[in-house]
Amino acid sequence: MSFSPLQSLYAFSSPFGDFTLKRYPEPLGRGQQQSLRAWDAADEFLLQQLHETLELDPNVAPKLLLLNDSFGALGLALQQYRPYSASDSFLAQEGCRRNLVDNKLAIDSIHLLDSFQLPPLAVDYIVLKVPKTLALLEDQLYRLRTVVGAETKVIAAGMVKHIHTNTLKLFEKILGVTTTSKAKKKARLIFCQPQPQKWNADVGGEERSQESPYPTEYTLENTAHLLTNHANVFSRASLDIGSRLFIQHLPNGFTGKDIFDVGCGNGLLGLIAAERNPGARLHFYDESYMALASARENIERAFNGTQLAEYRADNCLASADDSSADLMLINPPFHQGNVVGDFIAWQMFVDAKRVLRPGGELWIVGNRHMGYHLKLQRLFGHCSTKASDAKFVILNVTKSSL
Ligand SMILES: C[S@@+](CC[C@H](N)C(=O)[O-])C[C@H]1O[C@@H](n2cnc3c(N)ncnc32)[C@H](O)[C@@H]1O
Repeated sequence: MSFSPLQSLYAFSSPFGDFTLKRYPEPLGRGQQQSLRAWDAADEFLLQQLHETLELDPNVAPKLLLLNDSFGALGLALQQYRPYSASDSFLAQEGCRRNLVDNKLAIDSIHLLDSFQLPPLAVDYIVLKVPKTLALLEDQLYRLRTVVGAETKVIAAGMVKHIHTNTLKLFEKILGVTTTSKAKKKARLIFCQPQPQKWNADVGGEERSQESPYPTEYTLENTAHLLTNHANVFSRASLDIGSRLFIQHLPNGFTGKDIFDVGCGNGLLGLIAAERNPGARLHFYDESYMALASARENIERAFNGTQLAEYRADNCLASADDSSADLMLINPPFHQGNVVGDFIAWQMFVDAKRVLRPGGELWIVGNRHMGYHLKLQRLFGHCSTKASDAKFVILNVTKSSL
């Protein structure tokens, strides 16, 4: 059978079977993104290794926990084992759900868990894709201790450029003896044999810490607000310089009711906007469960649990009602996972136009070189610059009442 170029972009072959796999959201004709597959060589290497390992395993129904699977490449291939699959990314999980449906597989054949959930029992295999953020890996490895026994096998994989000495040191420090494979198609495997008996002991004079150092906190400058940041949160350790400029210029005395913080991270933009506009309702959107959890903790602490707010895991504003926002604040992301580009920013602006009420305002901060003003002009017919410094601009548009 021969495949069209688009079909071959989606045709995923694994030793466990062949599947159609798409990214979510699907890139739609925007330059190089069209050539992006929903899986990489690390997924292929991992599945090949697992196939060989599971063939030798007398356990007919091994319990599997997958971590950081993107769009279900691992989950679909391993769905016969009814794996648990934990991820911090709503987009990765939504991609997995859609790929299950497209492949006519039962939606409940994979137990999807967010980044704070773990299976209720010990597992035989942990199959982990190394995440981009080292802090997330560190946090995940500590969390894994509760479902790992001395018999559990941990097999991880990543592209060589994402696996550093520090990556391996984390496995060794938090779980146990760690080795690596040779690289294959620029991907590498990591094998780790957990040593629970050593977790409480001193190793080489260095006491092993017992718990994840995350979440961490910092005090928002010029305020008394303490901000909690879970491991995978944007600018986790300190205030982002773009956000710093933005909060200096957030509008006061806004008459509208509904303020949306889109791609909210730890929720600091919504928090400051609510403080300056008492009585508003807040709506936080992000694709990261850790971002939403951080925002929730920060808002509840700042307003003693009295602030009306909702927190939604979503792709941009996909689930938001039309004409439901009066003020929208965005510090747009410039990548999705390892893929850099302005496609998410564009989607956020398009969604913003739909979700704003007539007369509602969109405020954004952006790196000057991103050229967001051109996009906003194209969409809204105008765009004004409210402030700028050497690196960033604060842009503002109003949705027409016509
Ligand atoms: C540049 S950070 C801004 C965080 C925060 N608003 C601030 O100013 O510090 C962008 C945020 O967008 C989120 N994000 C990325 N892609 C998204 C998507 N498709 N839908 C919703 N949020 C997304 C990221 O998780 C991240 O928290």
